Amino acid sequence: MSDYKFIRKQDSEIYKALIAEGKRQAEGVELIPSENIVSRAVLEAMGSMLTNKYSEGYPNARYYGGNEVIDKIEDIARNRAKKLFRVPYVNVQPYSGSPANLAVYLATCSPGDTIMGHLLTAGGHLTHGWKASATSMFYKAVQYGVKPDGYLDIDEIARLAKEHRPKLIWVGATAYVREFPFKELAAIADSVGAYLAADIAHIAGLVVAGAHSSPVPYVHIVTTTTHKTLRGPRGGMIMVTEKGLAKDPELAAKIDRAIFPNLQGGPHNHTTAGIAVALKEASTPRFRAYGKQIVANAKTLAGALMKRGIEIVSNGTDNHMILVKCGTGRGAILEIALDAIGLTTNKNTIPDEPSSPFYPSGIRIGTPSITTRNMKEREMRMIGNWIADVMDIVKDEQLSAEKTGRKAYLANFSKRAHANSKLKKIHAKVRALCKKFPIPQSFV
Ligand SMILES: Cc1ncc(COP(=O)(O)O)c(C=O)c1O
Repeated sequence: MSDYKFIRKQDSEIYKALIAEGKRQAEGVELIPSENIVSRAVLEAMGSMLTNKYSEGYPNARYYGGNEVIDKIEDIARNRAKKLFRVPYVNVQPYSGSPANLAVYLATCSPGDTIMGHLLTAGGHLTHGWKASATSMFYKAVQYGVKPDGYLDIDEIARLAKEHRPKLIWVGATAYVREFPFKELAAIADSVGAYLAADIAHIAGLVVAGAHSSPVPYVHIVTTTTHKTLRGPRGGMIMVTEKGLAKDPELAAKIDRAIFPNLQGGPHNHTTAGIAVALKEASTPRFRAYGKQIVANAKTLAGALMKRGIEIVSNGTDNHMILVKCGTGRGAILEIALDAIGLTTNKNTIPDEPSSPFYPSGIRIGTPSITTRNMKEREMRMIGNWIADVMDIVKDEQLSAEKTGRKAYLANFSKRAHANSKLKKIHAKVRALCKKFPIPQSFV
């Protein structure tokens, strides 16, 4: 861990917060599937003086002087991404996944055009047309869902595409446990002349590792975050495929313009360097093994839960994620109870959610972080059993049917959970496990 020697001297409040968060991460089991642990090399790039530089524009076409070195860094990042994902064009400047997705709309649609995306309550992302997102304010969003078995409803997607003839279709999700059917979605998009964009934010690292199929042969555009399974800094990338360039030879230029100047200003050069470092790490055989172990761990963890009689969406997983069903509206109860034993998860909706997004009936757990800590099948079985034990311990906790009072109930439950002696005993075991699997510093 860094000693933060300069922050310590000049800003005790932030110093204390950094130490506290470092301790929380080291002593807890991080099961949020969109999170990971980056190498010290990535942290060094993020903490570098590259943050001082303005570089609006692109390599060799900047609006500011002094960008010779920045140009080289951005080119290295772009070239590594092109090689790794096998695409002809990459933009590494999106500030994160959401602006990357917004840039795709700007490059392919006009305001008011119809788009189609995966419904948030069925696992999709806000930026795929959810009602609270700018993407449904500026575009007419048609949303598709999943079947009760957790798989995408291909027939419904085909029917909706035929009926609404969207300009752009998204495939990709935030809470989806099955392999994405890129080929089937491509047939649908092609049949109505739509752009198909794959948002692989969650699975990018699995794609690179060969642990999930690549969308590249089937879609026109690929977007991703760089901080999830890809294990880089918080950022985003947009790629255009050969198929995308064949549909519109100007597509890459349109994406560049959409990011700058349509949507963003100067790129975050320290992040670009961090992305480059992470992409180099991701090009190693060690990373391929890492990606495969993420999936093997998720399958083992899912199996351990089911063995204890716990219901999970789709009865299994193909990727890094498991959606646990915990009873109507009980997701928050389980999230709080698991937090009390040092397992960090997040409450999540399940297909055909019987409650609401705010008080959903599931929790979402994932294996990218714990796999980075080198935990394997044995540890997955231990974690699965602890989750099952906790579910048992809190099985009589229930939110009231009326919405008023739920918040106070959860606040009170949190206090009781942290004081519960059975949960405290499990927490001690979780701490001991974390000590055995310290946060790694390097992956090469
Ligand atoms: C599928 C998907 N796309 C896009 C995003 C947006 O990424 P960010 O939070 O970096 O804006 C997320 C983040 O959770 C995501 O899961």
